[in-house]
Amino acid sequence: MSRLTLDDTVRRFEEKFEVSAQISDTGKRYIPGGYSRTSVTFGSHAVYADRGEGQYLYTADGHRMLDLHNNFTVNVTGHNHPHVEEALIDAVRQGYSFANPVRREHELAKMLCDRIDAVERIVFSCSASESCMTAIRIARANTGRPKIAKLEGGYHGFADEFMISVHPSAAQFPGTAADPLPDPNTKGMYPQVRDNVLVLPQNDLESCTRILSAQAGDVACVILELMTGAGGPMVLEADFVRGLRQVTRELGILMIIDETVTVRSSIGGMQAEYAADPDLTVLGKAIGGGLPLGAVGGKEELFRCLENGQVHHSGTHHGHPLATAAGIANLEVMDESVCERLNRQGEFVISTLNQWAGEQEHLFDVYGTGSLIAYVFPNQPGREFRSCRDLAAYTHEERMDTFAFEMATRDIYVLERGTMSLSEPMTDANIDTIIDNTRDVVRQILA
Ligand SMILES: Cc1ncc(COP(=O)(O)O)c(C=O)c1O
Repeated sequence: MSRLTLDDTVRRFEEKFEVSAQISDTGKRYIPGGYSRTSVTFGSHAVYADRGEGQYLYTADGHRMLDLHNNFTVNVTGHNHPHVEEALIDAVRQGYSFANPVRREHELAKMLCDRIDAVERIVFSCSASESCMTAIRIARANTGRPKIAKLEGGYHGFADEFMISVHPSAAQFPGTAADPLPDPNTKGMYPQVRDNVLVLPQNDLESCTRILSAQAGDVACVILELMTGAGGPMVLEADFVRGLRQVTRELGILMIIDETVTVRSSIGGMQAEYAADPDLTVLGKAIGGGLPLGAVGGKEELFRCLENGQVHHSGTHHGHPLATAAGIANLEVMDESVCERLNRQGEFVISTLNQWAGEQEHLFDVYGTGSLIAYVFPNQPGREFRSCRDLAAYTHEERMDTFAFEMATRDIYVLERGTMSLSEPMTDANIDTIIDNTRDVVRQILA
């Protein structure tokens, strides 16, 4: 078997997605870069969608792809699930723009409060970025402290405070592993922002405790994802999360768990597995059933500042009638048994591929949680991945790219950064397709 090279697979990818490349180029005449969401770039352009159905994405190039990207994990019920579609059509007929709330906002709020133990009150926005901004505002208002802390490699939307150390430069990480320094990832932010954001190392409780203790009187909250996404897939260790919970409590710092991606991992979110009991929880992506919806929920007493008007939280489209309709229908589909089935399928993919990876000297590894599957090509066998620094230092980037492009040429759409997610319509035959093609492509890459 001859080795599959990046150049070869990119050439075939470009041929196959030529129409998408042309559309991207046309868009550049009006939109910088061709489209408004930079994260959808796959290679040198975006893959344009024509439509979606079930587990499949139909591209502008005329290809039907098994969608393991699922809009960055949003589409937990796949595309156009009949129950969600029906709810949306009903909602459209009832009207979709009022200066009046609609009752289904309460219904969705109740569903989320019933599902997630740490959520007693909840407020909606249009995106997780907005809800993360609200969450830290609530934390500052309740504690009277100005600073926030986030983990290196954590992503919480595109606001200034969160665009720090999401993708620290792999060539030169600022500070040391135990004492990371804030690294602004965008130009155009207030220079003072970096002085108000503490950066903590992933899975290193001792260093986190030291850094937080030194400035505890100034720190309102720690915000974290249990499994990181945008900064590279990394699952936090349970002892680390429980330890951080204890330390934050002792220091009077609020803990915010950002479950934007991980909310799909069980009825109670991923925090249920960790028994983490955060003060505030941010939700997004899947909760809107494919429509723009974000939320922040948490302990009742923390939300008094909204009730009494001390904290402002209002947006034209907050609690939007269509997004709440889709959100409710989506959660109705995602009951306990569906979540369990998806997680079983995900765990089957992870364990089957990992067992096989052992036979390849672990030059390819698979991990993740439930229906969220992460993969990595370590640059040497036996590498341990405990932080985004490890990912940056030990990942064979060229093989990661080759894998993503080659899967696309086989009509399987994965995230370039190393994640796949499952959706409700997927069949056991789809699961076999994922496993068989992954093995085959990895074999060719490592040949
Ligand atoms: C963990 C996490 N938080 C927040 C966000 C921001 O969400 P949105 O893009 O909906 O604003 C994302 C988006 O990828 C995310 O992954």
